[in-house]
Amino acid sequence: MRNLVRETHLSGHDFILPLFVSEKLEQRRPIASMPGVFQLSVKEIVDEARRAQDLGLQAVLLFGIPEHKDEQASGAYAENGIVQKTLRAIKSKCPDLVTITDVCLCEYMSHGHCGVTHIDGDHFQVLNDETVELLVKTALSHAAAGVDMVAPSDMMDGRIGAIREALDAGGFDQTGIMSYAAKFASAFYGPFREAAESPPQFGDRRSYQMDYANADEALREVALDIEEGADIVMVKPALPYIDILWRVHERFGKPTAVYHVSGEYAMIKAAAEKGVVDERAAVLEIMTALKRAGADVIITYWARELAKWVRE
Ligand code: PBG
Repeated sequence: MRNLVRETHLSGHDFILPLFVSEKLEQRRPIASMPGVFQLSVKEIVDEARRAQDLGLQAVLLFGIPEHKDEQASGAYAENGIVQKTLRAIKSKCPDLVTITDVCLCEYMSHGHCGVTHIDGDHFQVLNDETVELLVKTALSHAAAGVDMVAPSDMMDGRIGAIREALDAGGFDQTGIMSYAAKFASAFYGPFREAAESPPQFGDRRSYQMDYANADEALREVALDIEEGADIVMVKPALPYIDILWRVHERFGKPTAVYHVSGEYAMIKAAAEKGVVDERAAVLEIMTALKRAGADVIITYWARELAKWVRE
């Protein structure tokens, strides 16, 4: 009876599963701070993608960990880079699975920042336009390898417009863009940086990620990304920013994604391990809250489990 008048229902189609693929591995490697999450080899990730699809998920979000890092992030846009290889492998085995790729340079940069940096004594600066050029090259190389949608997570100004223009000019007008439009400088990304091997070697990301005290600024950022051609806009992290999610969804009516990030995942896992929350009940409550607040899609490390739970 209660189900009859329930306003919000979850389905496997609501969730996107993030997957980490490493060029350095033959066998999966667990991420200590994120129980249940692994770095995978190319071969394993194809099996994992197929499993995700069999479970009822429609999309995966790929992060690459290259063998080699440098100060131009050359692995990010290499024709035979780790993500490019992975895309071709997944597309040949699971052509209907929607592939989304993280477009960022931090995993490929020796210093771990999301862009080209200029260092001057104790100060460093991330150079916006030089970075956008490399992001465009990265997005184009993913498109050439068959990606369905690119997801720039770097937060440089003007990158959505530049990527859209380059994709169209390159004949990839069908390739979508999911923009990390409102991405806050957050304490909740710690475990991800272990998973993606991308912690900044100096400084932090506050010069290019948003101040979590600002909501109106977030709306302005989202408006700009939509104007520049984003197909889906994302709010990140999720639960501490549920007000932003609601406002973005209400104001723009665009497909809205939310990223339930690594620190949010690790907290519930740790609490569940201690026996202080029921993992499944807590996760279903959080995901329902995010959908109720306006999320059209939710990126979560629980996507696989959720696909099962929502069917039971
Ligand atoms: C960076 C990127 C980050 C995440 C996704 N893309 C980390 C960061 O900005 O430091 C975080 C995801 C998570 O914490 O789960 N390109």
